[in-house]
Amino acid sequence: MDLFEYQARDLFAKHGVPVLPALVAGTPEEAEAAASSLGGKTVVKAQVKTGGRGKAGGVKLAADPADAREKAGQILGMDIKGHTVHKVMLAAAAQIEAEYYVSFLLDRANRTFLAMASVEGGMEIEEIAVTKPEALAKVPVDATEGVTAEKAREIVAAANFPAEVADQVADVLQSLWKVFVAQDALLVEVNPLVLLKSEDGSAAPGLSGGKIVALDGKVSLDANAAFRQPGHAELEDKAAADPMEAEAKEKHLNYVKLDGEVGVIGNGAGLVMSTLDVVAYAGEAHGGVKPANFLDIGGGASAEVMANGLEIILGDPAVKSVFVNVFGGITACDAVANGIVQAFALLGSRGEVVDKPLVVRLDGNNAQLGREILTEAALPGLEQVDTMDGAAARAAELAAAK
Ligand SMILES: Nc1ncnc2c1ncn2[C@@H]1O[C@H](COP(=O)(O)OP(=O)(O)OP(=O)(O)O)[C@@H](O)[C@H]1O
Ligand SMILES: [Mg+2]
Repeated sequence: MDLFEYQARDLFAKHGVPVLPALVAGTPEEAEAAASSLGGKTVVKAQVKTGGRGKAGGVKLAADPADAREKAGQILGMDIKGHTVHKVMLAAAAQIEAEYYVSFLLDRANRTFLAMASVEGGMEIEEIAVTKPEALAKVPVDATEGVTAEKAREIVAAANFPAEVADQVADVLQSLWKVFVAQDALLVEVNPLVLLKSEDGSAAPGLSGGKIVALDGKVSLDANAAFRQPGHAELEDKAAADPMEAEAKEKHLNYVKLDGEVGVIGNGAGLVMSTLDVVAYAGEAHGGVKPANFLDIGGGASAEVMANGLEIILGDPAVKSVFVNVFGGITACDAVANGIVQAFALLGSRGEVVDKPLVVRLDGNNAQLGREILTEAALPGLEQVDTMDGAAARAAELAAAK
């Protein structure tokens, strides 16, 4: 999960990474009030989870509170690479002497953590990595040792930081590593990390010259650590989440909304992935209908899980037909068939009607028995097709006919 800059800044502050005074605003009026309480010049920054905000006009200097109101008015509602700006962050305007880059990330290829640092920050680091790779230091960080004072000095030396900032940058690196570990992050990045001008008298209150501060932050959290990071749920951007995905998450279903018309349920991620392919292929012969979602109900699916899955999919207005693709393994097909029958009853008891055609394909362990159970139950709108390709073609045909 990627965080907004203001959330990253909060985490930085919590773990001792120096940041500028800042406030968040959702309207131009709030921005004006925030700018007056910050005092002096401010920088109004679009809060979107994508890079290159500055280039897109999403980072603007404001001379005073009235100007901050105007700049916020220009930035709020702006579209940056498909992301609408709903909030801006106002930060004290810094007088910048130099811009650097530092980050920690999980280096999957080398099965370690990696520190990256450069004295050429500010611009896109991806560009520096390509055009001037020697300017980007990469230092592996051992998970058990972490960033000790010695490791921090090693990173500082590898990136050739000037002697006068070396100690401060080393401190920042150690604090930033604390953010990385304490928050179970996959990435913490500061671009730019800046050296404030020393002789400057016009800097906003609270900023003294010659100091190193994090001016922009990017943090990506590891969703697999959610179980031990209860605070992370609050950082989620509820406004951006798909409502059906949120509902599915609450029911512990692995659901991803797609933009087609054929609802898909299967047991096992691999089977569901290949079902998506087969449906998309079959859909080509039926006006280009496509899968409407990914939904894996897992190996040991109970009637309740099946009912919850059907409920989510049937509740999607884009869905015209549903393909239930099950390969009986540890949970045999007869159990799944009984689950489907009970799911229909359960949905009925919740006051919901299954008003979309369902195509079920059962194969694998006890397939024959499962098929008999469904035939006998004669559920309305449910038909069975024995092969995956055949079932996908039928589901696509039904979706196209609707
Ligand atoms: N508080 C500030 N005071 C002065 N200048 C700032 C401030 N914040 C940002 N800037 C200037 O604006 C530039 C761009 O800001 P920032 O790094 O936050 O956004 P960005 O790099 O455009 O966005 P992203 O990192 O998402 O690509 C910085 O490199 C810096 O020169
Ligand atoms: Mg930046």
